[in-house]
Amino acid sequence: MKKGMFTLLIIVLMIAFVGCNSAQGTEGQGEESQQSQGKDTLVVGTSADFPPFESHEVVEGKDMIVGFDIDLLNEIAKELDVDIKIEDIDFNGLVAAVQTGKIDMAISGMTPKPDRLEKVDFSDSYFKASQALLVKKGIAKDIDSMDRLKGKIVASQLGTTSDDVISSFEGIEVKKYNRTNDAVLDLNNGRVEAVIIEDTIAKAYVDKNPGIEAVIPEDLNEEEEPFAIALPKGEKELLDKINGALKNIKDSGKYDELVEKWFE
Ligand code: ARG
Repeated sequence: MKKGMFTLLIIVLMIAFVGCNSAQGTEGQGEESQQSQGKDTLVVGTSADFPPFESHEVVEGKDMIVGFDIDLLNEIAKELDVDIKIEDIDFNGLVAAVQTGKIDMAISGMTPKPDRLEKVDFSDSYFKASQALLVKKGIAKDIDSMDRLKGKIVASQLGTTSDDVISSFEGIEVKKYNRTNDAVLDLNNGRVEAVIIEDTIAKAYVDKNPGIEAVIPEDLNEEEEPFAIALPKGEKELLDKINGALKNIKDSGKYDELVEKWFE
């Protein structure tokens, strides 16, 4: 009797253990993380509101975060032989999350800039973009200069370079959003005149929202902005590995494949 109970207990424990493991697996992105055994896991933060770099999409009935950054990240993970766990964090909280060690790194179309460089290190750049505006369909032709937006409300994502850029124009009221999706929603609802966001992302939003279009006034951009991965300060070994992986991904042609998949 006693022995029987003991065996039963072991079986129950084993089932509970297996159950736990598979529950963890479904939280991770993609199959690799579910099949792996004993690999190190990098926890990576992203603000999944930035298509085609990172956004939520239902894939085979499951909510997934997909995009160029995510595919690039998975390629890096292959190179480094590690697993990835993705955390969706408001863009404005990503640098602090890296700095405090809540996440191991952030990939989120992030531009290295002086105030961020004081807090985190950046990988080599893997993309370049410039600022654009989203407006209601039909008005792009009228926005030939930023002056046209004086006295109007323009939406930006809190803590982004778009936010810096729009705030540098006098006379424009800036409304800041934690998530770009909400900014685009308010554009569709007529609560803001325009949304400032990088060109590649503007294009993705236009493709999904028939009522809006993109415009780039001549005086909007001073220069292109690089995108890079943010890492904790001083982690030279990880930084070198990531830069090595980025180089291999470019040299092997994989990078071009991803560009074609997501941008063409
Ligand atoms: N490149 C801009 C920046 O670094 C915007 C990035 C926003 N990324 C995002 N996933 N929402 O500030």
